[in-house]
Amino acid sequence: MELFLDTANINEIREALGLGLISGVTTNPTLIAKEKVDFQERVREIAKLIYPGPVSVEVLAQDAEGMLKEAVEYSSWEPNIVIKVPIIKEGLKALKKIHEKGIKTNVTLVFSLNQALLAALSGATYVSPFVGRLDDVGHDGMELVSQISTVYNMYGFPTRIIAASIRHPLHVIQAASVGAHIATIPFSVLEGMIKHPLTEIGVKRFLDDYQKAKEFLEKK
Ligand code: E4P
Repeated sequence: MELFLDTANINEIREALGLGLISGVTTNPTLIAKEKVDFQERVREIAKLIYPGPVSVEVLAQDAEGMLKEAVEYSSWEPNIVIKVPIIKEGLKALKKIHEKGIKTNVTLVFSLNQALLAALSGATYVSPFVGRLDDVGHDGMELVSQISTVYNMYGFPTRIIAASIRHPLHVIQAASVGAHIATIPFSVLEGMIKHPLTEIGVKRFLDDYQKAKEFLEKK
């Protein structure tokens, strides 16, 4: 099980890398737009920081030809760029051609087992089921990750499952338990995974006890 960071924020990536916990980054147009920076510059900066880990960058074109053009362009920026393609008809057409060029892909906006099956059949390197967005509309997002894991294992598909749209630390535990290869998480979730009130109380109590013993010995 690996952790990717779902962000286009450089400070967050630097901090997570400093913790030695993340092995890749995923971005999307919304995350990049939030940063209000030049698209290519930011993608290249992230790719260099996370290298040799992958950074997923999403195509914006709505037609297969346009997607292929973007895929070829983005992947020429840095060697570890993975092309994110939405699971729509034009996306599937593009995927075939992108693979023929030896470019890695992450099939995104996956909300059903059928879509995940098509992603695997089209040779996707990664598939991204969106857990939180399914939960938001009253479906069990993690159940989908579990189904994908079962079917991929059953047929030996090499496509790696990225549990995406992760909203809280419990999602990470569940993703790990149902067989996701990767969870891509916001920085706030990474922080949430580290923190536990009993750890904080424990650290403080050890320090207080040590200090008390030291003062006692010094008074003797
Ligand atoms: C994944 O690759 C997406 O960037 C992301 O996880 C979407 O998450 P959201 O539903 O919180 O926007």
